Amino acid sequence: MTAQELRRLFIEFFKEKGHKEIASASLLPENDPSVLFTTAGMHPLIPYLLGEKHPLGNRLVNVQKCVRTCDIDEVGDPNHCTFFEMLGNWSLGDYFKAESIAMSFEFLTTRLSIPIKKLAVTVFEGDDGVPRDMEAYQLWRKQGLSESQIFFYGRDENWWGPAGITGPCGPDTEIFFDTGKPKCSDLCSPACHCGKYVEIWNNVFMEYNKNADGSYSMLLQKNVDTGMGFERVLAIINDVDSVYKTELFLPLISKLKELTGIELNPDNERQYRIICEHTRAVTFILGDPKAIAPSNTEQGYIVRRLIRKAIRYSKNLFGQNVIVDLAKTVIQQYGDIYPELEHNKDFIISEIEKESVTFEKTLDLGLKRAEKYFAALGEERVLDGDSAFKLYDTFGFPLELTEELAREKGFTVDLDRFKKRFTEHQELSRKGAEAKFKGGMADNSEQTTKLHTATHLLDGALRKVLGDTVFQRGSNITSKRLRFDFSFSRKLTKDELNKVSDIVNEAIKKDIPVICDEMSVEEAKRYGAIGVFDDKYGSTVKVYTIEGYSKEICGGPHASRTGELKSFAILKEESSSAGVRRIKAVIG
Ligand code: ALA
Repeated sequence: MTAQELRRLFIEFFKEKGHKEIASASLLPENDPSVLFTTAGMHPLIPYLLGEKHPLGNRLVNVQKCVRTCDIDEVGDPNHCTFFEMLGNWSLGDYFKAESIAMSFEFLTTRLSIPIKKLAVTVFEGDDGVPRDMEAYQLWRKQGLSESQIFFYGRDENWWGPAGITGPCGPDTEIFFDTGKPKCSDLCSPACHCGKYVEIWNNVFMEYNKNADGSYSMLLQKNVDTGMGFERVLAIINDVDSVYKTELFLPLISKLKELTGIELNPDNERQYRIICEHTRAVTFILGDPKAIAPSNTEQGYIVRRLIRKAIRYSKNLFGQNVIVDLAKTVIQQYGDIYPELEHNKDFIISEIEKESVTFEKTLDLGLKRAEKYFAALGEERVLDGDSAFKLYDTFGFPLELTEELAREKGFTVDLDRFKKRFTEHQELSRKGAEAKFKGGMADNSEQTTKLHTATHLLDGALRKVLGDTVFQRGSNITSKRLRFDFSFSRKLTKDELNKVSDIVNEAIKKDIPVICDEMSVEEAKRYGAIGVFDDKYGSTVKVYTIEGYSKEICGGPHASRTGELKSFAILKEESSSAGVRRIKAVIG
């Protein structure tokens, strides 16, 4: 059965049962600041679950695009995705448990022809507040399920919602497909993650509302909210053991092979899947009419994490970043069914391209830096929060990426310290933003900061062109220009001056991060930093590195990336005093 046949089969079945089809809503929920994405088909329906009348009536059905980031670390196993389609049907105060269970059972066994013995279901076992769901148990028995196919669990497994902090929720009954694999232990049951049981459909009996104070009240009406995992069911009915083996992912996998020449094999399978899955998720989020772009906050940050993770794996596995081409395949593949992807194609592609350019500039350096940190870790096996923050702030490594790298080596990350640094940084950025509005002074100091970085590049370039005997003899910066004095005994030729400014401009164009490290004077010397090694800096010094161009002891401050300088030009080269030359230069 094709993907589109399955979507239609589901919709038509429920239409036959009196449901009206509604369109998939945006991936970005309206009016619910407590969640980042639409995680289930019920999300856009909350007002109607709470009692408002839906214009199309009280039986609805749809296919809803969803994003769930809670499963991000599971992606790469056979059946988890961050983006997925959910097939859902709803009763808004209309039918309840009996019809809901009967319809689900009929759809699975007659329309999808799944044998009854391949099903297992779970039911709410009850607790202090809500009784054991014997009604659901009896209803499943009536459909022909044996006692051994029905499992009782508590709130951890058999209570769904609310989607955010407050809202409709209730006990549920979950339907699993039994793959027929042997039990992993005597305790193996649908709650086990060994892969024997695959969860495919959840029927929530939504008659409660969770309030802000944590208490529960009864809703005005009894609803049914169901959600079926489209990718998983497609895999099952096509008799494959993973969503990644369905037509939803095979074109992406072939595209990767075509682009890179590297075949999928058991060793690279997980990375292959992550690249495909995250690229698909990102394409859908960027393609949403609400036009979320990568950023450091909220949904934008999730997009950034997903793109960066996909890039990291793509570079690791293939030596190149093929995400943009892969996203084009996603658009092609889904464009008919989700026309917003075609419509927003330029935005999707340009945002992935921009994010790729930014991240690729720092990825290799950041990975090297992370290696260095890990190599220096002692027995405690914990990466300190300052180093994790440096990877975030300077190299653009989302915390989760650092955590993953640490995990691969058997380390953890000091999250408390990272969070402290992160909060301080946010506070500083806020103050910085306020300062910018004041204009004048702040502008000047920003300009002098950039000119300061330009002197480091100039110093490095002079040493490249004229040799290691060149040393800084003085520096003076105004808001308009830099003045740099250095040891050299003759006038520079035109050719030498051109070479020097070409090198500085090349560094600016590469938009290299300016990295600051604190180290002892001894370490700075070993590291090959230039600058004044005297006592005025104390026993530890700050070393600013512009990889490939400059390593210099300095108190700062500096631009965070060379690109901020925009361009560099030498205005004048002249004698300053015996054996010392002077250059005046501008940027921007
Ligand atoms: N809202 C329910 C779920 O997501 C159906 O599982």
